[in-house]
Amino acid sequence: MNCSPLTANERLEKKILSRRRFLKSGGLLLTVGVLLRTGSVFAAAERQLRDAFQDDFLMGTMIDPVVYLREGSELAGVVAREFNSLTAGNIFKWDHIHPTEKHWNWAHADAFVEFGEKYRMHLVGHPLVWHAQLPIGLFDNPAKPGQTPAILTEKLQQHITRIVDRYRGRIHVWDVVNEAIAEDGNWYDNHWYQKLGPGYIASSFRWAREADPAAKLLYNDFNLWDERKRNKTVEMIKFFKSEGVPIDGIGIQGHMGLNYPDLKELENSIEAFSREGLEVHISELEVDVLPTVPIGEFPQYRSELDPYKDGLPKEVDQKLAQRYKDIFSSLIKYRDNIQRVTLWGVSDDRSWKNDFPVPGRTNYPLLFDRNRQPKRAYDAVIKLK
Ligand code: XIL
Repeated sequence: MNCSPLTANERLEKKILSRRRFLKSGGLLLTVGVLLRTGSVFAAAERQLRDAFQDDFLMGTMIDPVVYLREGSELAGVVAREFNSLTAGNIFKWDHIHPTEKHWNWAHADAFVEFGEKYRMHLVGHPLVWHAQLPIGLFDNPAKPGQTPAILTEKLQQHITRIVDRYRGRIHVWDVVNEAIAEDGNWYDNHWYQKLGPGYIASSFRWAREADPAAKLLYNDFNLWDERKRNKTVEMIKFFKSEGVPIDGIGIQGHMGLNYPDLKELENSIEAFSREGLEVHISELEVDVLPTVPIGEFPQYRSELDPYKDGLPKEVDQKLAQRYKDIFSSLIKYRDNIQRVTLWGVSDDRSWKNDFPVPGRTNYPLLFDRNRQPKRAYDAVIKLK
């Protein structure tokens, strides 16, 4: 493990080497192949995100099974044309992939990896350890009360080892631990923390490294531009380094809105994590345009919380484009530090932001519209290059 801080030059060198693997290896052939398959004249005439940003960072998107189970669909065509890194949205989550102690559900994960390999994508597994989307009974099984910390630790180790080992050499990046830090800068008081203390985080990284020494290991969280979360993350990185715990990077999720965060704060966090010698990945970017709701509140649907159900007014669409332009301008400034920028979905119709934190709204957070056409925001982003 190498945790020593890298100089800017070393970082750049590392980055160029790793990009070369994904971008230069047959990228052109691949694009031609995809064009022939999709017959897309648009793609032939226009630049795509992946190419426009090839000197900056990998351009990723989160996909769900609709994409990789329906090859040849319009959505799969957009993915293959525009992006060079893929994250699976839900299928590596514990409740899906490992719903009971003895039952593993590999079909979707296998299909995701096969799809990615076919299109020579950089692949991200998300997440190995989280507090949400867990199977009922993992912690509190009334039929089997009294789970000891030792039993839980073993379950966690087996879970991580089995998954990472299965995709060794095929999944390039793992979000090892997701959202372990609370808004106040303390450890998030989740079940893992309650039963095992904060040691579960370091152990998870060690087990992941053992299972695939070549995979990049990330800590992933939201609101990492917040000073308290940033400081706690830096403290964790320093502790990891002093203890020899393997960590390669930080995933700044990037769930943003039209007015938050202050991009200076985002930049401060990119700088802080880079100073520790870690890669920065923007792992779940999107821009919510709807009225905001305080974190942790989940109001019922009310029409005043859903102002654009009949379409996004032009001036809001323009604001969204400007916001994306500002965000990408910041990211381009930090291109030497940022390895990857991943949108949390392709087109607005499939975004989780239509249902979170208020169910049933109509949101417009991504770069492609409900007809899978590039939006103003897409043009604003690509024109930066
Ligand atoms: C979201 C998915 O996109 C939804 O489909 C699911 O219902 C809930 O989870 N932070 C994360 C992601 O790390 O895993 C979450 O994904 C969004 C917030």
